[in-house]
Amino acid sequence: MKALVLSGGAGTRLRPITNTSAKQLVPVGNKPILEFGLEAIRDAGITDVGIIVGETHEEIRAHVGDGSRFGISATYVHQPQPLGLAHAVLTAEAFLGDDDFVMYLGDNLIVGGIAEFVEEFRTTRPAAQILLSPVGDPRQFGVAELGPNGDVTRLVEKPEDPQSDLALVGCYVFSARILEAAHAIKPSDRGELEITDAIQWLIDEGDTVRSHVIEGWWAARWKDTGKLYDLLEANRIVLESYEQRIDGHLDERSEVQGRVVIEEGAQLVNTFVRGPAIIGKGTRLVNTFVGPYTAIYHSCVIEDSEIEHSVVLEQTTIRDMRRLVDSLIGRNVEVGRTDRKPHAYRLMLGDHSKVGLV
Ligand code: DAU
Repeated sequence: MKALVLSGGAGTRLRPITNTSAKQLVPVGNKPILEFGLEAIRDAGITDVGIIVGETHEEIRAHVGDGSRFGISATYVHQPQPLGLAHAVLTAEAFLGDDDFVMYLGDNLIVGGIAEFVEEFRTTRPAAQILLSPVGDPRQFGVAELGPNGDVTRLVEKPEDPQSDLALVGCYVFSARILEAAHAIKPSDRGELEITDAIQWLIDEGDTVRSHVIEGWWAARWKDTGKLYDLLEANRIVLESYEQRIDGHLDERSEVQGRVVIEEGAQLVNTFVRGPAIIGKGTRLVNTFVGPYTAIYHSCVIEDSEIEHSVVLEQTTIRDMRRLVDSLIGRNVEVGRTDRKPHAYRLMLGDHSKVGLV
């Protein structure tokens, strides 16, 4: 069995962060989202992994390399334009051959892995197997309708009027029949070749499509990280799984409480960190409070500030901020106050930025 990881696409909902970088490499708990997917695939016993890349291919290649760091062998497949998930499958036709494969969306986080799900496919051998999870607003997802005996009867991509609350999770297992289906379907109204339509084609052809509903505790471990709030949630879920580890340096006036990871080379000066939280390599915190569910990435400087339930990317500087919550702050950003006159806000924000001032 092979795997196909989708890391192309545009990432419009996480702009401006994804104006300049791949959304699959935004870190949660200081680890790029894509790495969780690659490790889940490896842990399911699959090492032959195709990676669909688009505009951000250089960054993905630089990060994943030949895959050996993650225990896989990576083959890159370039998709010239993000024309849909089924289009991505067709682009990878030569790589996939006649093999069964797991398709994993590179911006999805499934904590706890996919090994059981893959094993179920190996023993039951349907044409396709999908994962479903109840969600609050199904309109943002592919939605499945089940018949009285639990069979999937209909799949609709982002319906305006959903007939169920069961969303398609971004992990599928397919036989080579999905290639026939992807060839047979036409682009949707939004101009994409939808994988939901390809699976629907299999259902209509009488092929077996198995579904597995994840609920309760498991459902809480799946996140499509495409939007800010979901990304913060994914960060929270990952931080919850960390144990305390202090590899950096705390001065005598600094303290950590609970599940806090201080990575190598990080320095805390008169700073209090309340977990779950992680402070990245080479980051320096001075006179600062870091509250629960915060991940500060590498080589940042935070001084005289309070920050909570937030994700900060590398090489960012934050000074005199009381107080930052629910925020995603990009790379090489400077946030601070100034005494310059007139006393006013001075902003230089990327396209599609969002700012909430009090
Ligand atoms: O997260 C689950 C949802 O993922 C499912 O419920 C939907 O049925 C499915 O269509 C998908 O919806 P999204 O709108 O979230 O898909 P998105 O455009 O974000 O793409 C998912 C991943 O696939 C992302 O890492 C980018 C990549 N991609 C996307 C497209 C359209 C590609 O590599 N190529 C593409 O052509």
